[in-house]
Amino acid sequence: MSVPACSGVVLGVIGAGRLGLAVARLALAAGMTVRVAGSGAAIRTRQVVAMFAPGAEVLDAGEQLGGDIVVLAMPLSGIDDIDPAVLRGAIVIDAMNYWPETDGVRPEFDDPSRPTSTLVAERFPDAQVIKALNHVAFRDLEAGAKPVGSPYRIGIGVAGEGAALDAVADVVRCLGFDPVTVGTLAESGVLEPRGPVFGAAVSAAQLRARIDIAR
Ligand SMILES: NC(=O)c1ccc[n+]([C@@H]2O[C@H](COP(=O)([O-])OP(=O)(O)OC[C@H]3O[C@@H](n4cnc5c(N)ncnc54)[C@H](OP(=O)(O)O)[C@@H]3O)[C@@H](O)[C@H]2O)c1
Repeated sequence: MSVPACSGVVLGVIGAGRLGLAVARLALAAGMTVRVAGSGAAIRTRQVVAMFAPGAEVLDAGEQLGGDIVVLAMPLSGIDDIDPAVLRGAIVIDAMNYWPETDGVRPEFDDPSRPTSTLVAERFPDAQVIKALNHVAFRDLEAGAKPVGSPYRIGIGVAGEGAALDAVADVVRCLGFDPVTVGTLAESGVLEPRGPVFGAAVSAAQLRARIDIAR
């Protein structure tokens, strides 16, 4: 699936928390149409979205978000609650990290030989899963987003394959960052909390250098 110019993109966001609403704000600023779903009925999520990402549409949990790309911005353990049919055919940005404090202790999410995005891809076999937007704190994303061509753009690691990877790289550019491809989902561990760039809001060149050194 090819993704149109920024203003034509329809972006779904699952998770109406710190990251999800920050991404929604950046996407709205880029002219995208944004649809947000939280963990419950739209009526529960509407107020927070109206306050923190005004202009985004609000859907019920479990509703098809449609559109070009869907961002998963909820606790990783939340994938258990999402019906794979909701993401059938979608390009999915997995922006999630394993955090035992919120996810509970889940040994399968804590195996360095199997990055969590590979498990997300297994959970949603009919979606094209790309890892991105997970390694920079939401505040740094918002503070660091800059138009294409600006100096000091933040590099955002993206992992995956095929046309979906290109589509996500385009969306990352639209949001205000320089995408840095780091390999397949199997190689996405470099973007995870134990990896060399987790928490790093640095340029694409610096991001690439840190990953190369770590490898
Ligand atoms: N915070 C950051 O700076 C940051 C940066 C990069 C990546 N991340 C990753 O992004 C994910 C979300 O982090 P966060 O800090 O945004 O968390 P957060 O502020 O706690 O927000 C999480 C949101 O996910 C929703 N949610 C929980 N279970 C859900 C489900 N099954 N379906 C739909 N929505 C669900 C919650 O809704 P309810 O309130 O209704 O339960 C809440 O709105 C985590 O995996 C985190 O590692 C965070």
